[in-house]
Amino acid sequence: MKRLGILLSGRGSNFQAIADQIGAGALDARIAVVISSRTQAPGLEIAHRRGLNAVCLPSKNLEREVYDRQLADVLRDNQVDLVCLAGFMRLLSGWFVRQFPMRILNIHPSLLPAFPGLDAQHQALDHGVKIAGCTVHFVDENLDAGPIVLQAAVPVLDGDTVDSLSARILEQEHRIYSQAIRIVLEGKYRVEGRRVVRSPDTAY
Ligand code: GAR
Repeated sequence: MKRLGILLSGRGSNFQAIADQIGAGALDARIAVVISSRTQAPGLEIAHRRGLNAVCLPSKNLEREVYDRQLADVLRDNQVDLVCLAGFMRLLSGWFVRQFPMRILNIHPSLLPAFPGLDAQHQALDHGVKIAGCTVHFVDENLDAGPIVLQAAVPVLDGDTVDSLSARILEQEHRIYSQAIRIVLEGKYRVEGRRVVRSPDTAY
């Protein structure tokens, strides 16, 4: 069975959605390790409560590559096949990305390439877009920039606040992240330039 390494820094709702899908038998994988970059992350506590292998690796005051080497060691020790960033609020070094080529996924709360970086939902509201959404993509050496596996769109309503829009986007995040993981783990895709093209027999 393929082994996932989940990296998070906060609430951990995407992590929970993935764990739920695995629990329900809808995703054929196991969570080998959950790594939190923050000691206080609620996601870390949830991982412990679920009886998962959960590691706290505080990133505060550490140089990027020093931290990334620790991260890679923990992932390798746990024989992780796929690294899933789930609200991991830290930039990864080129060195780290090269250790796991096309083996790192990220979820971002916008329709990339619009609104990369922090506070994507706020950026979307400020810009006045009528359609927002979320993206699961491979991680490359640039911020929120690698080939896109799946996206989901949600309407922006006139009365939306950052909170209401974020909640509507989050529902879709929880849905598409597990789907994207399934596609990647099953290997039913190929990458042509920037395009992730799914194999014809992938019925999602
Ligand atoms: C999610 O909305 C995720 O898309 C976002 O952080 C939130 C984490 O929530 N990630 C980024 O903005 C990455 N640039 P969660 O901890 O409940 O999964």
